[in-house]
Amino acid sequence: MKQVFVVGGTGFVGRHVCEKLIRAGWQVTVATRRRSQARDIMVLPGLTVLELDVHDEGALNAALAGHDALINLVAILHGTATEFERVHVALPQKLARACTAQGVAHVVHVSALGANVSAPDAAPSNYLRSKSQGEAVWLAWAQAAKGSDPAGPAVALSLLRPSVIFGVGDRFLNLFARLQKIMPLVPLAGANARFQPVWVEDVAAAVVATLTASASQAQSGIYELVGPEVFSLKQLVRLSGQLSGVFAGWGRPVVAVPLWAGRLQASLMALMPGEPLMSQDNLDSMRIDNVASGQHPGLKDLGIQPATLQAIAQDYLRA
Ligand SMILES: NC(=O)c1ccc[n+]([C@@H]2O[C@H](COP(=O)([O-])OP(=O)(O)OC[C@H]3O[C@@H](n4cnc5c(N)ncnc54)[C@H](OP(=O)(O)O)[C@@H]3O)[C@@H](O)[C@H]2O)c1
Repeated sequence: MKQVFVVGGTGFVGRHVCEKLIRAGWQVTVATRRRSQARDIMVLPGLTVLELDVHDEGALNAALAGHDALINLVAILHGTATEFERVHVALPQKLARACTAQGVAHVVHVSALGANVSAPDAAPSNYLRSKSQGEAVWLAWAQAAKGSDPAGPAVALSLLRPSVIFGVGDRFLNLFARLQKIMPLVPLAGANARFQPVWVEDVAAAVVATLTASASQAQSGIYELVGPEVFSLKQLVRLSGQLSGVFAGWGRPVVAVPLWAGRLQASLMALMPGEPLMSQDNLDSMRIDNVASGQHPGLKDLGIQPATLQAIAQDYLRA
């Protein structure tokens, strides 16, 4: 049975990926910084949870030995430029070196729509710049494995770029629905930013589909993972209120505010404890649309029919 090593497997997407991997017959090892984070997945048959510091290259190397493939789902949404660099760039560098050392030839790396691997500095935010640099790390790894010999050792690399992801437990529609339960209206910066939300089950299916293909098949490459519909942020916030039944199903009024007001809001949120709802960096990310460029294959090319948002979101937002 083939063995896959998953980092970030305890998260929102990771939990769905692990379930599908087990169903597809993989032996799965999930590395986590805290075993308690893995309580939802540790019951899956054939899944091993390893508590380790994923930033410790020696520990990573030892843990990766004997695996056939690696899936990287580790990411942060908020932080300083240094923190983004550590998680989105330095960690892939350590993982790539460990893959080379341990002969792991198949990698699936989940990135984000808006990453620009050919010009990382052109990306509008620390999040997207570091995501772009992370992709570049893996492309260099694949290139180095091949060397100058076109018949060099075969490695398979899939870089997956999802738009914003919805599904049970998401931190996007759920958050805006919760806000509307306590606020009479929602002041919103970046109201016209556009997204193409994709269902978490479809993203997880894409991870497993690209992993299951062999190195020689066409599944290596960059994939844009998006749903069938494009929404503005304002439409998504309104939908989350309506689908969750707030204010008798009308949702709260959403008031677009100028960027400077959004930045002021974000600065105040940064002073409060816990993760901010919206950071300066999130606002920067929204300077470009989060929709498929059409320059890369997508879910349909992997045999996955992308789900529409409303019926699925209504189920869990109402609950
Ligand atoms: N959710 C979305 O809407 C969305 C949209 C576009 C792209 N993506 C991408 O999809 C992937 C999965 O996202 P997700 O929503 O499942 O993320 P998530 O729920 O936040 O999970 C991320 C995982 O990363 C690990 N992690 C977090 N901070 C870390 C740190 N400082 N050092 C090491 N590990 C850390 C955590 O593992 P442990 O705590 O167990 O160590 C956690 O399981 C990411 O690459 C993300 O950028 C997500």
